[in-house]
Amino acid sequence: MSFQPVCRADEVEPDSAKLVILDGRKIAVVRDSDGTVHAIDDTCTHEEVSLSEGDVDDCTIECWLHGSTFDLKSGQPLTPPATEPVAVFPVRQDGDDLLVDVSVQIGAN
Ligand code: FES
Repeated sequence: MSFQPVCRADEVEPDSAKLVILDGRKIAVVRDSDGTVHAIDDTCTHEEVSLSEGDVDDCTIECWLHGSTFDLKSGQPLTPPATEPVAVFPVRQDGDDLLVDVSVQIGAN
């Protein structure tokens, strides 16, 4: 597998996230406060809810249901109740497109 286009870069504003489906997997494409784009598993490790519906702040995303925050670089949970990390995937920009490689997991899970 390799990098595959998931959306246009201008579809993901700073401090926001977009849900995309890649190889049948739900991925949250997130642009942090500095403008850096990250790709993480969209499903919270605490319960099955969508992290892309949560709030982005600096380099974290907060689960909207119980408030766990996850580091966008490592996938590690920074606050309870979640204790397991979400997977993090390589992402890059090619022209106007964002590409993600789901065959390589940077974080655990
Ligand atoms: S479902 Fe995400 S913290 Fe509970």
